[in-house]
Amino acid sequence: MRFNLCVFASGNGSNLKAIINASLSGRITSRVSLVISNNSNSGALRTAAKYNISYKHISGIMFDSQKEYTKNLLAELKNNKIDMILLAGYMKMLDPAVIRKYRNRIINIHPALLPKFGGKGMFGIHVHEAVIKSGDAVTGASVHFVNEVYDSGAVILQKQVKVKPGDDAVTLQKRVLRAEHKLYPEAIKLFEEGRVKVRNNKVFCTPHPQPLS
Ligand code: GAR
Repeated sequence: MRFNLCVFASGNGSNLKAIINASLSGRITSRVSLVISNNSNSGALRTAAKYNISYKHISGIMFDSQKEYTKNLLAELKNNKIDMILLAGYMKMLDPAVIRKYRNRIINIHPALLPKFGGKGMFGIHVHEAVIKSGDAVTGASVHFVNEVYDSGAVILQKQVKVKPGDDAVTLQKRVLRAEHKLYPEAIKLFEEGRVKVRNNKVFCTPHPQPLS
């Protein structure tokens, strides 16, 4: 199956770039049809422009009410015939109406092995700082379904990454990000192959465990 993807991103957009590259090289058959960012100055929007992909800066402060904002967002998704939403460094909670409309069709990438180091306040560098502080020898990245509670949707795919002696949060973040760039396209491929089934917040047909990288 081939999906029309919408990527939501707030920052650099390196995961967006990895997904676009996977699509252009044929590793996945789906394509990114729309990029939405709450940050007008994001690398993600510049990347979308560079690759000639439709993009929109949509932020809550541009609207009189949450209702108007959500209505606008849903209209963009509908107009672009979006099948799946991918959150890639999107630092805003999606409105429950969007989650309801796209139930089990919204996924997120998180820079740790959920359920560890997830939840409110756990984003970006803070995650890696917490991992270093914990003394864990292994961390990684997770692709999971998005529901109404931060980082609590069923995990679809994970990739482990070693924490090396001498790592700090920045060196670890870079290594985990490289793993994310492989993991996100692999997760999309699972959907394309119809291998992701979800029931009672549990994913079935998960693939083989990922090797340490
Ligand atoms: C990625 O590491 C992603 O996992 C993380 O933000 C970064 C975005 O990087 N997301 C979260 O922390 C969400 N809780 P990118 O903009 O270069 O793709």
